Formats: sequence, C-alpha cells, structure tokens
Amino acid sequence: MDEVESRRANGPDWDRYADEYQATHGAFLGDTGFVWGPEGLTEAEARILGDVAGRDVLEVGSGAGQCSRWVRTQGGHAFGLDLAHRQLQHSRRIDEQSGVRVPSVLGTATDLPFADASFDVVFSSFGALQFISEIDVALAETTRVLRPGGRFAFSITHPTRWMFPDDPSAAGLLASQSYWDRTPYVEVDDVTGAAAYVEHHRTLGDWVSLLAEAGFVLTHLLEPEWPEGHDRLWGGWSAVRGRLTPGTAIFGASLRLT
Ligand SMILES: C[S@@+](CC[C@H](N)C(=O)[O-])C[C@H]1O[C@@H](n2cnc3c(N)ncnc32)[C@H](O)[C@@H]1O
Repeated sequence: MDEVESRRANGPDWDRYADEYQATHGAFLGDTGFVWGPEGLTEAEARILGDVAGRDVLEVGSGAGQCSRWVRTQGGHAFGLDLAHRQLQHSRRIDEQSGVRVPSVLGTATDLPFADASFDVVFSSFGALQFISEIDVALAETTRVLRPGGRFAFSITHPTRWMFPDDPSAAGLLASQSYWDRTPYVEVDDVTGAAAYVEHHRTLGDWVSLLAEAGFVLTHLLEPEWPEGHDRLWGGWSAVRGRLTPGTAIFGASLRLT
C-alpha cells in the first residue's frame, strides 16, 4: 500500500464517513474542545503543546477543527489541514455555529502547502499519521514548516493494539497477531477490488527512531489510562479493554535547534 493508494482510499473514505463520525463523536469532541483520544484526555490537562497564546499552530488531519478551535480560544493562531472535503465542510459549519473560526485547507500531510518555518507548533489528534505510507516524507514536511525549536505532538492508536482484534468486548483482549507485523490494515471495496481504507502500523520503537531521524527530541510519550466511570464506546476502545491495555499513544517532541 504505497502513499498514492493510501490517499486514494482514505480521502473518499473520510468523505463518506464524515457525517456519521461527527454525528457519533461530535458531542464528545466538543465544538471548541481538544481531546487527544477516546480516553478523553484533554490538552488542557496534558499540556503537551506548551503555551499556544500568540503562536502559529497547524493541525494536520484536523477533521472538523475542534482541537484547533480550542487553540484559538487560548489565543493561538491555529490553522487546519485535512484530506477529506466533507470533514472540512463540517469544520466550516461549526465555525459558523460557534463563532470561533479555523481557516482550513484541503491537503495531505505529505505535501504541506505552507512556506518553510511558518509554524511554532504542529499537532495531530488521531489525524493523518497512521494513515500515511510515506511517513518519512510527512515528518520531513513537518520539520520544514516548523520553526527551529518548534513543538510537534500527535496521538495515534497505541501500537500494542494492533496485536488484538478490533473488538471492544473481552474478545478484543486475546492477542492474535504479531506486534512486529507491519502489514497495513486494508479494507477492500467488494465491487472494484480497490483499497477503500488503509491504516499503517508502526511499533513504539519505530516511532522513536523516526522522530529522532527527522531531527526531533522526544519530550513526551503519554499512554492515558482509562478513567474510572468512563463507559463510552469508540470503535474498539472501551472500558473493558481500556482498564487492561493502553489504547492511545501520544508523542510530544521539539525540533532540534541546529
Ligand atoms: C480520526 S479523524 C480525526 C480528526 C480530528 N483530528 C478529530 O479529532 O476528530 C482522522 C482525520 O485524518 C484525515 N486524514 C487521513 N489521511 C490524511 C492525510 N494523508 N493528510 C491529512 N489528513 C488526513 C482524515 O480525513 C480525517 O479527517
């Protein structure tokens, strides 16, 4: 699954899924909220981005822009970028409803339409990173648009989750495939036989090496615990699994100054 195939599958898939995604998760995300994943850890609690007031901030895989809108309420100049047109239409709708506007652009994390050194912070909350084949290109683009010393943070499905079936019940606790198997997860269109959804798997060690090679110093690796009394289901994320295994990994890093 190369980058072109991954993008050809995922853009239309997110266009199709956007209405359901926002209807199902919009209230949990909050129009001007910033959660890092299904456990509900907020940026207000985690503070991985640092003080965003007055900073130029890019959200990659911004969806309907909820996180960027929170950044704007904190005084940051946040901008969104997403592969799916329909997600950006939802972003525009919430801009109008909330009165907090996030200028956003259609694009891909592997080809950012911004000048060098445009941003102090780049982040992605379950956005593009696990959908990309050419991750080295996406990281090079991130370093290009960041200013020296800039912050980069992102959340992804915790790499250990790939060992288990994507099932929120106890059946999803039985390891059935190798943690080290990097074969992407692919859904295929029954009619055309073409890839209709792609996710790429990398181990924790892969991510640490990729960040170091791209010029980042790792500052955070958060594995949020499932909060007591939190019973919300989100796909394969549930209290049943969340009490025993991490579902989300959040990396924070700074771009080296030289
Ligand atoms: C799980 S959603 C998360 C959206 C938002 N961050 C949120 O928390 O709701 C993943 C988003 O990544 C976007 N995406 C997938 N591949 C991408 C790529 N190559 N470049 C930019 N965005 C991408 C999808 O269109 C989708 O909106």
